[in-house]
Amino acid sequence: MAKKTSLRTKAIVVFFITLFLILGSLFASLGKLRDQVLQNEAQAVADQVVSFRSWVAGSGMVWVNKLTPQFDEYLAVHNASNDTSFYGKNPALATRELSTIANKTATRAEFTVTSDNVRQKANAPDSFEKAAIAAFSADKSTKYVTEYEGDFYRYARPLIIKEGCLKCHGDPKDAPPAVIKKYGDQKAFHYKVGDVRGIISVTLPSIGFMEALPTLANPISLGGIVLAFLINFFFTSKFILARLHKLTEDTKAIVSGKLDTPLVYTPPKESNDEVDHVYHSVDLLKRSMELVVRKIARKK
Ligand code: HEC
Repeated sequence: MAKKTSLRTKAIVVFFITLFLILGSLFASLGKLRDQVLQNEAQAVADQVVSFRSWVAGSGMVWVNKLTPQFDEYLAVHNASNDTSFYGKNPALATRELSTIANKTATRAEFTVTSDNVRQKANAPDSFEKAAIAAFSADKSTKYVTEYEGDFYRYARPLIIKEGCLKCHGDPKDAPPAVIKKYGDQKAFHYKVGDVRGIISVTLPSIGFMEALPTLANPISLGGIVLAFLINFFFTSKFILARLHKLTEDTKAIVSGKLDTPLVYTPPKESNDEVDHVYHSVDLLKRSMELVVRKIARKK
């Protein structure tokens, strides 16, 4: 039959089980932290888009006097007296051009403004974006939708029709002629205040386990685990195992007739330590043995 495992081995096993459980819950918390970090980052990007759109909307349009081949679209032209022309870009157009630049540069975040009823083909939604629009339309109280998609994190926030949007997204009869001329009178009209017109969609590279690993496996954390192990090991060895060993030796000595073997311990009156209690019981046993031995000696 196999021998029973020592307390020392059991204590080590318990230590490692505890360690794995703690690390496991730490990982679970890290997952939540990752969600929060990515969500905050995506939110900050969406906030920037909102600010940019409201700046352009507040100024009516942004007017540029040069059209580059990449950004040659405009919604209005203003011919100044000195033969220069200015081209007006409305919020949606200016945002699309901003996103084209942002998505080409080395920024982490990509963003687009899209809809389930696009006026502009280049703004067409992908499957995550379609699902997000459907979710916002189904439940108007939904503030945002997020999803992990392979190595990417996706975030979407609704764009709701307000009074000011109706000029170009309400009745086509009210729309500026330039909008009708460029996009026709079919696309993205007949909205009402409160309707979900579309979304701001943000895509971020996700944070993988391997990227998080250096953060976890740093000298302070690893040192902490080693220290925890040493403290555990020291405690079990010195305060439990060493004393049990000494008690075993003392008891053996008493059993072999050395009744004067001193038992060094703190009496239960002054100690809650369980080993002290075992010591005390052995001491009681030793005293009754002494008594018996003395009685027998007297009788002789
Ligand atoms: C001055 C006219 C005008 C106003 C006002 C306006 N839009 Fe637009 N909107 C457009 C045009 C033009 C486009 C297409 C832009 C492009 O080519 O990318 C567009 C596109 C969009 C898109 C992108 C999807 C698509 O159809 O291609 C969304 C979303 C959108 N608008 C929401 C709004 C919201 C919300 C408001 C009010 C806060 C608003 N718009 C006000 C003219 C306008």
